Amino acid sequence: MYHFSVCGSKTPNGVELEELPVSCAAMYTSSEHLLKSDIVLSVMKKYLRKDMQTESSYEDRKCKIRRLEITDKSKGFIELLRQLTVCDSLSDKEFEDRFHELASQGDDHIICVIEDDSTGKIIATGSVFIEKKFIRNCGKVGHIEDVVVDSSARGLHLGKKVIQFLTEHAESVGCYKVILDCSAENRAFYEKCGFKQKEIQMVKYFT
Ligand SMILES: CC(C)(COP(=O)(O)OP(=O)(O)OC[C@H]1O[C@@H](n2cnc3c(N)ncnc32)[C@H](O)[C@@H]1OP(=O)(O)O)[C@@H](O)C(=O)NCCC(=O)NCCS
Repeated sequence: MYHFSVCGSKTPNGVELEELPVSCAAMYTSSEHLLKSDIVLSVMKKYLRKDMQTESSYEDRKCKIRRLEITDKSKGFIELLRQLTVCDSLSDKEFEDRFHELASQGDDHIICVIEDDSTGKIIATGSVFIEKKFIRNCGKVGHIEDVVVDSSARGLHLGKKVIQFLTEHAESVGCYKVILDCSAENRAFYEKCGFKQKEIQMVKYFT
């Protein structure tokens, strides 16, 4: 496993921080953390690399990136997570309880999804939680987790889109860096997202 981080003055696609627009956080609605995805899409399009704006990828599929909504359980969100790791079936109540628990953390823990408008299915997701520290002048670190793209939609730059969204969120709430762990086979993907390898991962499982 590798440990990646992004820090410094540029976003993964090379945009200087000073050039960034008002943070996406300002576009979030207050209830249930819904996102005005059309607005976010227009902002994101402006900052995407030109080759990511081609008709064959994001635009053509009419996909929206937004925060997780409570109705996404019925749109294949859990099945998508199963493509990443073990994810047992959840009752609606279990899902809703966890959803509200996470939602209560506001901007400190967000899950984003990409929905394919043509099928109504969730085809990509990822999350970031914000760790508040004493070091670095009470600095904050973003931890990216649970990134997965549906097997039928890989290679369309949706994974990159998810990472960009999560990274920009971490920047917008004042993180000085964002980090994640990944397998060796995904190292090149994260490098293309602007991350670099740093240190190693240690783990101790309890179950
Ligand atoms: C890893 C994953 C999220 C990548 O998503 P994706 O949408 O297919 O990736 P993208 O299309 O956004 O790829 C972005 C760039 O990385 C490259 N890339 C993607 N996966 C790669 C890999 N495994 N090895 C080398 N390059 C890779 C793409 O070719 C693309 O390059 P380009 O910008 O030059 O065109 C996806 O393959 C996946 O869900 N895998 C299974 C779950 C998983 O392993 N999640 C990661 C947990 S850490």
